[in-house]
Amino acid sequence: MSRTTAEHVIEVERLHVHAGASHILRGVDLTVRAGEAVTLLGANGSGKSTLVKALVGVAAPSQGTVRVLGARLGTDRVPWERVGYVPQRAGARTGVPSTAAEVVASGLLSGRRWWLPRGWRTRVRDALDQVGLADRTESAMHVLSGGQQQRVLIARALVRDPDVLVLDEPVAGVDHPSQEAFAASVRRLVERGVTVLVVLHELGELDEIVSRAVVLRHGLVVHDGAPPRPRADHDAAAHRHLHPHDDEARRPAPLTQNPVNGSTEEVVS
Ligand SMILES: Nc1ncnc2c1ncn2[C@@H]1O[C@H](COP(=O)(O)OP(=O)(O)O)[C@@H](O)[C@H]1O
Ligand SMILES: [Mg+2]
Repeated sequence: MSRTTAEHVIEVERLHVHAGASHILRGVDLTVRAGEAVTLLGANGSGKSTLVKALVGVAAPSQGTVRVLGARLGTDRVPWERVGYVPQRAGARTGVPSTAAEVVASGLLSGRRWWLPRGWRTRVRDALDQVGLADRTESAMHVLSGGQQQRVLIARALVRDPDVLVLDEPVAGVDHPSQEAFAASVRRLVERGVTVLVVLHELGELDEIVSRAVVLRHGLVVHDGAPPRPRADHDAAAHRHLHPHDDEARRPAPLTQNPVNGSTEEVVS
C-alpha cells in the first residue's frame, strides 16, 4: 500500500526547459502514481537528466508545470524531506575524504536544522545495510570501489526514508555485485510502497521490477507504457551488463536508433 496521500506523486505538464540557446525539453508530459516504479530511458543527450533535475527543482522550467507530492514547484512548499534524489555521477572516483557513514548521514540534514536527528547512527547503519554495505560504515569513500561509492550515495537518499526516490543512472558503470544489491534494494522499496523513478541506460537487473517505461528522444516522450523486453534474438543474459558509454558524447549522431530505447547499441551489436 502506498504511504503517500497524493495519488499523482509526480505530475509534469507541457514542460519545456531551455539552457542557453538549446531547447532541451520540448513539451514533456509525465505522470507517476503512488507506488509505481517507472524507468526513464533514452539515448545520451535525450534530456533524461534535465527532466529529473526539473523534478527536484535543480533545472528551471521555461514553460509548463511540475508538481511533486501535489505541490507545485515554484509556488507551493514541496515536502522535500519525503523525496530522495541520487544525481548522475559526474565522473570516476573522487578522493572524497569522508567515511561512508558521514556521507550517508549528510542525507539526514534538512533545510530546517543543521544537526543530526536522534538515532542517526542506527538509521545510517540501516541505510548502508539496505545496499549491502553494513560492514563498510567506517570505510573512507576513496577506498571503496566505484560501485560501492554509488551504493553509499543511494544509502544517502534512503536514510531519509523517502516516499519518492528519484535516481539518475544509479548503476551506469558499476560492478555486478553493486547492480544486484541495487536491484534488491529497489525491489524492497517498491514492496514497501515507495514510488521510484529511475533513469537507466538499459533495464538490466531491473526488468522485472519496473512496471512502466518512459522513453525520451530529443526532449520529447516517444513511448510511455510497457518496458521494452529483450528481443528473442538478443539473449537477455548476455545483455544484463550495463556499461558507462563514456564515448557516446563524442560519437557523431547515429543514423539508426533502436525505436524503443533510442539506443544505438542494439543495432551495432
Ligand atoms: N546546462 C546546460 N547547458 C547547455 N546544454 C545542456 C545543459 N545541460 C544539458 N544540456 C544539453 O541538453 C541535452 C540533454 O542533456 P541531458 O538532460 O543531460 O541528457 P541525458 O541525461 O538524456 O543524457 C544534451 O544535448 C546536453 O548537452
Ligand atoms: Mg543523464
